[in-house]
Amino acid sequence: MNRILIVDDEAEIRESLEEILSEEGYAVSSTSSGTEAIVLLRDAPYDLLLLDIWLPDRDGLDVLADLASLETDDKPEVIIISGHATIETAVKATKLGAFDFLEKPLSLERTLIVVKNALEARRLRSENLEFKRQLTLETTITGESVPAKALRQQIKLMAPTNGRVLIYGESGTGKELIARAIHSESPRHDRVFIELNCAAIPEDFIESELFGYRNSAITGGPAEKRGTFERANGGTLFLDEVGDMSLKTQAKVLRALDEQSFVPVGAAHPISVDVRVIAATNKNLEEEIAKGNFREDLFYRLNVIPFFVPPLRDRKEDIPSLAREFLRIFGREYGRPRVEIAEDALDLLKQYPWPGNVRELKNILERVLILNPHVHRIERKHLPRLVYRTTGRRSDDFSTLQQAREAYERDYILRKIDECHGNISRAAESLGLERSHLYRKMKTLGISIRESVS
Ligand SMILES: Nc1ncnc2c1ncn2[C@@H]1O[C@H](COP(=O)(O)OP(=O)(O)OP(=O)(O)O)[C@@H](O)[C@H]1O
Ligand SMILES: [Mg+2]
Repeated sequence: MNRILIVDDEAEIRESLEEILSEEGYAVSSTSSGTEAIVLLRDAPYDLLLLDIWLPDRDGLDVLADLASLETDDKPEVIIISGHATIETAVKATKLGAFDFLEKPLSLERTLIVVKNALEARRLRSENLEFKRQLTLETTITGESVPAKALRQQIKLMAPTNGRVLIYGESGTGKELIARAIHSESPRHDRVFIELNCAAIPEDFIESELFGYRNSAITGGPAEKRGTFERANGGTLFLDEVGDMSLKTQAKVLRALDEQSFVPVGAAHPISVDVRVIAATNKNLEEEIAKGNFREDLFYRLNVIPFFVPPLRDRKEDIPSLAREFLRIFGREYGRPRVEIAEDALDLLKQYPWPGNVRELKNILERVLILNPHVHRIERKHLPRLVYRTTGRRSDDFSTLQQAREAYERDYILRKIDECHGNISRAAESLGLERSHLYRKMKTLGISIRESVS
């Protein structure tokens, strides 16, 4: 429901407006004081303010100026009410962001129309804000590490150019996110971003997928199809897993890149396109070249600007900010804003080697949030068994012998509990411990019983 605040010193006007607008289904409050209006606006969200210019305690325009300086991006629309507005006042009010004017005596019909228009304008404005926020949210590279900062810097530098980018990184490190970030910071941001996963398309189809076809002889199918290169015209084409293209396809892509044109399958004439290509791979293309699996000339065409995204285990400083960011994202999605994470939980996350990189961290935090619906602060005990694993850790992950010993013990105990399918008594037996002793150990090591039997 839309919330409206009326600020007018004439009780009669307040009452009649309140009555009319409530009847229309708006939630209406009112005050006669400009000072109180600002307090109300600061503390509660209103969608619309109906503001008299002549108030006993202060000038309506001052109230408007105060409102403009409030630090929120979610301000109400303002309609000025006035008995004797001069052009000068009107200009000032408009400059301060007023949406429209109502003259006293108020006309019922016009009041309702102006209110409706103002609320519609406000709805569009907040939709737009939300849209913009989502756009920036989707392409924000989170992280405090030196490599994360360098990536953001490199994106900023390269985005405005048309240079081809080749992004290297293990699975889940954020290659696609980087490609989208480059696109959204480039002059092509309002054009399409088209993704083609070269590994996911069967060899027989990849050519028609990339270049489309004309006059198809396939009975029952469409006669024409626009390929990814054509659909990406004017925008960015993201060739994911580019190392998985066959040599034959590589030759065609090379030609399309060189000529910025291509011939659809079965067509007589080439089509010209203007496409910025960003490619990504988790393979070592130089090795693939040596093995004869990847064309060297294509490699040089694609590799104009290389980006290297290190695995998460090599930039553990990013884990706290990534974890908080993901809790914020999922918290909003699941209607649980402000879920925090304890330092000891972050420490444990920093010790895990993250073979699935950032994607794995993101998935695990989503799971933790879902599995603990009433928790406001994620602690060590809420984390899944998996992250207690030390396998693959290096000695320099621990600063003291005690830390290393505890990590090893935790691992060993978890493995035993696993082998006993979560049966603690049996695990205790096979570890040669009393059951109560094992429970105490688990407690000191921060192994939660719920997690270990789940
Ligand atoms: N630095 C980061 N900040 C915020 N989110 C990130 C970051 N890096 C990765 N992510 C998120 O992690 C997930 C995996 O990232 P992405 O899909 O870009 O990885 P990828 O390298 O393309 O993986 P794959 O090789 O498996 O396709 C996405 O949801 C992405 O938004
Ligand atoms: Mg990807």
